[in-house]
Amino acid sequence: MINIQQKHLLQAPSGLLQVPRLPQSSSTDGYAAQASNLIFPIHFTLIIPTFNERDNIEKMVAQLSQLLDKVLPNDYELLVVDDNSPDRTWEYALHLTEHYPNLQVMLRQNERGLSTAVIRGWQAARGEIVGVIDADLQHPPEVLLKLLEKIECGADLAVASRHVEGGGVSSWSAARRVLSRGAQLLGLVILPRVLSSVTDPMSGYFLVKRKAIAGIPLNPVGYKILLEVIGRGDIQQIAEVGYVFQEREVGESKVTWRQYKDYLHHLARLRIDSGRLGKWGRQLNFPVGRFIRFAFVGLSGLLVDMGLLYFFYDFLSIGLTRSAIFAGELAIVNNFLWNDRWTFKDLAQKQSSWQQLLKRFLKFNIICLMGLILKILLLNILFNGIHLNAYLANFLAIAIVTAWNFWINLRLNWRVTQVD
Ligand code: GDD
Ligand code: MN
Repeated sequence: MINIQQKHLLQAPSGLLQVPRLPQSSSTDGYAAQASNLIFPIHFTLIIPTFNERDNIEKMVAQLSQLLDKVLPNDYELLVVDDNSPDRTWEYALHLTEHYPNLQVMLRQNERGLSTAVIRGWQAARGEIVGVIDADLQHPPEVLLKLLEKIECGADLAVASRHVEGGGVSSWSAARRVLSRGAQLLGLVILPRVLSSVTDPMSGYFLVKRKAIAGIPLNPVGYKILLEVIGRGDIQQIAEVGYVFQEREVGESKVTWRQYKDYLHHLARLRIDSGRLGKWGRQLNFPVGRFIRFAFVGLSGLLVDMGLLYFFYDFLSIGLTRSAIFAGELAIVNNFLWNDRWTFKDLAQKQSSWQQLLKRFLKFNIICLMGLILKILLLNILFNGIHLNAYLANFLAIAIVTAWNFWINLRLNWRVTQVD
């Protein structure tokens, strides 16, 4: 019995969040995995992300199986992706595989969050069409057949929407409706192409053709995976089907204020990546988003430097040179901390010991010093050599040195020490 269940337990992929063009084996069953890395595709994989949904999962799986057995007998899979729920949803789901042979389970222990759960599921999926549905019965299962039909008729993406004919929310409070619509409006301003292409961009219930998202690195934050699919996928035709968002009967929603913050973060990231800057950046292999953070940190350093210079020189009267040195060094400390905690956070986390931190800080100081020398050189060339206006020359020198500092820090400071 354990063995049968083992066959249904999939390993969570790691690394880049990218769906392969052809399905790849991710069975935990060593023999199957060894036999071949490539496996036969099937028609459809539906991801059911779960976190503490033990009391919902059986009903959900039963209803979905009943529907899909009729239209796609043995040509579909249901894949529960559970983030190691304290209520052991994954274990419970694994027991269900004995009665539901098309059910698979993925247990994630090293990652958390709805969007990445869905993508990890798609990475392990065998389906040519992949999709997602909530586990809590708030997304009515019957709508699935209509969504599938839309894809069969040529749509690359089929979205269940609360805001078209036949759609709605059953009994949301006025406050939640306003928040939901407000978030949508804001998104429309920041990212019009993505948000205006569907009536319900916040939907967590949709199907997409594998080929429309395969081979593209995805990079979502928070809950709104659909934004990521529309923003980065190669999607020509979109169809929508109305549905009524049901009330939750058991368990609780995981939505908190955090999701609103994540949503804004996600919009900003997609905006940068899909704008002109982002496209150039990708062509030149330049991390535009990171550079924008670095430039912001630089700006904060300028303010710290000016403020402290005033404090030391005018307020404490300790002499201009000494004041400038103190202010400059403290600005460097400021920039280092922000860059370590924010701009290069992902890289810094991989090298988190005190010694590594100290080493980064010393290197950062040296790079800043080199930057200062470079700046003075550039300023002289631009001002004395080609007779630019002093302020323009200074501005250009700062811009060039910022880009230079960024590049050196990325290559030689935050990134390279990762190998030691
Ligand atoms: N694996 C995993 N990890 N699953 C999660 C996580 C997580 O961190 N957080 C939530 N889930 C699962 C829940 O167990 C549920 O099956 C589904 O994702 C949705 O979570 P809820 O907390 O019930 O969200 P909601 O009801 O407020 O909102 C949902 O419906 C909206 C309307 O369609 C979400 O799917 C929204 O994205 C969607 O817009
Ligand atoms: Mn829900």
